[in-house]
Amino acid sequence: MLDGFRRRWRAATLRHRLTTFYTGLLVVLLLLTALTVQTMMRHDLERALEGDLADTQTQFTELVPSLHLSLGEAGSDGLAEARSKFPSSVIQVDPLVPRSQTTDLRAEWAAAQDDKGRQALLDFLHKQSEALRLRPVGIDPAAPLELSDHELARLLESPSGQILINRSVKPQFSDPEPMRILVALTPLKFQKGAGGGSEEMLAVTFIGRSLNSLNRTVTRLQLIMGGLLLVGSFLAGIGAYVLAGWALRPLNTVRHAVEGIDSQNLQARVPVPHSDDEVEALAVAFNRMLERLEDSFETQRRFSSDASHELRTPVTAIGGHATYLLRRTELDPQQRESVQIIQRESARMTDLIGSLLQLARSDGGVLTLKSQLLFSQMLLHEVARELRPLAESEGAVLVPAGQDIPFEADPDRLRQVLNNLISNALKAGATRIELGSTQPEPGRVRLSVSDNGPGIAADQLEKLFDRFYRLEDSRSRDRGGAGLGLSIARTIVDAHGGRIWLESEPGQGTQAYVDLPVGNLPALDDDDIP
Ligand SMILES: Nc1ncnc2c1ncn2[C@@H]1O[C@H](COP(=O)(O)OP(=O)(O)OP(=O)(O)O)[C@@H](O)[C@H]1O
Ligand SMILES: [Mg+2]
Repeated sequence: MLDGFRRRWRAATLRHRLTTFYTGLLVVLLLLTALTVQTMMRHDLERALEGDLADTQTQFTELVPSLHLSLGEAGSDGLAEARSKFPSSVIQVDPLVPRSQTTDLRAEWAAAQDDKGRQALLDFLHKQSEALRLRPVGIDPAAPLELSDHELARLLESPSGQILINRSVKPQFSDPEPMRILVALTPLKFQKGAGGGSEEMLAVTFIGRSLNSLNRTVTRLQLIMGGLLLVGSFLAGIGAYVLAGWALRPLNTVRHAVEGIDSQNLQARVPVPHSDDEVEALAVAFNRMLERLEDSFETQRRFSSDASHELRTPVTAIGGHATYLLRRTELDPQQRESVQIIQRESARMTDLIGSLLQLARSDGGVLTLKSQLLFSQMLLHEVARELRPLAESEGAVLVPAGQDIPFEADPDRLRQVLNNLISNALKAGATRIELGSTQPEPGRVRLSVSDNGPGIAADQLEKLFDRFYRLEDSRSRDRGGAGLGLSIARTIVDAHGGRIWLESEPGQGTQAYVDLPVGNLPALDDDDIP
């Protein structure tokens, strides 16, 4: 579970993490505060209640002589008068032993030697209190308060002669309530039967108060705290989310700007927020990096452009002289073969240099298009006518088909794209190549070159558009392309605002697609359409 949380935490955005962290922190702090307040409040209320109990106990003991409590009549109602004096308390009195008969009970308890002696004393006291108990006030006489052995022992041992206990007490005619009860061992004066006279007895008095109202107060406090916690964390969560978003907005702006920069627009710069903070520093650092990148990119581009340019002249000269030697001089067969190789390779080199130069130019953003109105069928037929001799010499057929769609594009560049696609198919060994044009949606034209060649594995389809990338099969190596055709085609199609891609499955042939916007077409008359 911890792992899952860690993974989710790492996957979350900075904004979500900040929000979660601060809201969580606030919830913990609020919870701690609520718990402390509640504990303190309960503690104070309980101390106050215990103070009240102690007061009542004192007042009650002082009142006893005037109550004329009489012994020997168990269940006598002598305490009833106390009820009006202490309306909110429950009172029970269990006389134990006459004061005169015994030394102090507590001393006797302390003197008891062993567990047996102590148990005997406890049992005796239990019996006594049961026998002599007066009718309690506020307590169902059928369910009087009784001390357990342990509590009785605590009472006997307590230095003050008092202990506090919690009990659920059943008043007469209603349900039990939780109560806090002060139990005290006190000498009290009792009336002695009908004969008059009085006797001092050691008795256990129970003075109790209901905890209901205290519990209600604490519960109400808990509810209020809980509500505040919910509302507080909700508001804090929203606040933190908004604040985090606000604080991170400049970062997002920088990110969007950076995302929009590629090799085509390295001269673009990230907007620098004048916030005098980390984000500003980041944007400035990015811009410096872009400057350096632009410089080195430009140096590289100029290098390949200059190198291609410088190579062109000597290579053309080599080709020219080879041609001259072949045409104008007597060569023996071996010499002729060598010179033919020189001528072929220099032609290939000229192509390669042309391609490199074109790529260097398009990297520099100087691929200018000479757009004009074209008709897709006418273009495909022209290309097919041009390449048919080559295709036939390779034993392949070229079939133009599809709709005729007018659109605006640079015819030479587009022919270059189609030528490369067709020559790729021929190089791959296709025997049937179909050229098509369709309208995939209004405002666009789609040209396609489909072959029945060996096909391409799916993971290679995009890589083929990288410069110098070629499939490592023997056929394409033998056929000697440089691996630049498709990347040049992509720069041309991109410059038209279009898209070029390959679809293929090994063994099923390959389809190359070029999607272009039709551009701003002039209104056409029937006469314009060939
Ligand atoms: N229709 C196709 N069927 C099979 N493989 C293809 C097809 N089209 C392209 N390829 C593979 O993609 C590679 C790259 O093609 P690309 O046109 O970029 O370069 P090239 O044809 O090798 O050389 P260049 O076009 O520069 O003379 C080719 O070498 C070939 O391996
Ligand atoms: Mg090619």
